[in-house]
Amino acid sequence: MKKHLPVFVVIISLISFKQICFSQPVSYLKPQVQLLNTIKQNFDDAGKQYKIMAAKLAPGEFPRSYNPAADKFVTSKSAWWCSGFYAGTLLNLYEQGHDDALLAEANRSMDSLAKEEYNTHTHDLGFMMYCSFGNANRVEPMPEYKQILINSARSLSTRFNPKVGCIKSWDSKPSDFLVIIDNMMNLELLFWATKESGDSSFYKIAVTHANTTMKNHYRADYSSYHVVNYNAQTGEVLQRKTAQGSADESAWARGQVWGLYGFTVMYRETKDKKYLDQAEHIAGFILNHPNLPADKIPYWDFNAPNIPGALRDASAGAIMASALLELCRYVDKKDGMTYFNTAQTIIKTLSSPEYKAAPGTNGGFILKHSVGHLPQKSEIDAALTYADYYFVEAMKRYQQFSTK
Ligand code: GLY
Repeated sequence: MKKHLPVFVVIISLISFKQICFSQPVSYLKPQVQLLNTIKQNFDDAGKQYKIMAAKLAPGEFPRSYNPAADKFVTSKSAWWCSGFYAGTLLNLYEQGHDDALLAEANRSMDSLAKEEYNTHTHDLGFMMYCSFGNANRVEPMPEYKQILINSARSLSTRFNPKVGCIKSWDSKPSDFLVIIDNMMNLELLFWATKESGDSSFYKIAVTHANTTMKNHYRADYSSYHVVNYNAQTGEVLQRKTAQGSADESAWARGQVWGLYGFTVMYRETKDKKYLDQAEHIAGFILNHPNLPADKIPYWDFNAPNIPGALRDASAGAIMASALLELCRYVDKKDGMTYFNTAQTIIKTLSSPEYKAAPGTNGGFILKHSVGHLPQKSEIDAALTYADYYFVEAMKRYQQFSTK
């Protein structure tokens, strides 16, 4: 891969932007003292929950979900797309109270995860490696973390097809090239890799993937399809469909918020206004949707057939809160306050006993009531490791608006 120094210099200045933007209060975005206290309590409770969870894990296993109906704690191996959220959550919790037991457990988990740096059979390396080793490197930078992250970015890049202009999401038959909206979340790793290595190839892949996704995944109302199938030889769109949503033409809730978060990161990393506009349009679709409940936790699909009886998806709420707490920093005061207040409502709702598990229950997970893959009858009304990860991230982002 070729190196381009001028691009690198521009990008270095963007690193400073990221650091500034997450550590600064904004005069008109004021966190509520009561909610800050609730968050502190949530972090204390979460640390205790994660110690309960740690005791359930056999070596080489990663927490995946908890099914309350069957009282079943479900784990995965390191190759599952969710394997990095556990270490990431532990690291974010460690930063709160510097409890060494949480750091030690994160390190133990990452020891079993590191080998995935060479996995070229998944597009999920951003989730797996950046949420774990990325956080670890932020908490305590280490050459070995950096090397694992660079290797992961290289593995992810092998899935990029220049003819399509995308990273392939799912391997299937050779005539298919399947890309899912979730894949926007893996691009942050590539931006990091360019900043770290000076190799602009990663940056270019991320930008190309985002541009292709913006063109082909979105409907006129800025809702997103879940899956686009491309002709791998010509780049032509063959099909637009769903895998995890209620119908091909529906708006699967988590897909909408993956896009919201992904295009917000695109703006942070490039400062290209078209990504900010896209993120704002997506936010408009979500926040103005007649099926978004007043407590702001989406139904698992905005077009689920049995609304208002449909299940909610706490994971979609948590991801949305975290994304909005970044997006609100980049927009005008009016929109910024709308996004901030929506995220605040989500954090309050998720902190209530309806969503936050009582200590000692829920397999050690923090949140209840997420939906993983309803059409496959998998992880329905369950606890999910990524719901916890983004809830913790959202609470941390909320704290960063405090002047104290
Ligand atoms: N990336 C898979 C999901 O959101 O369920």
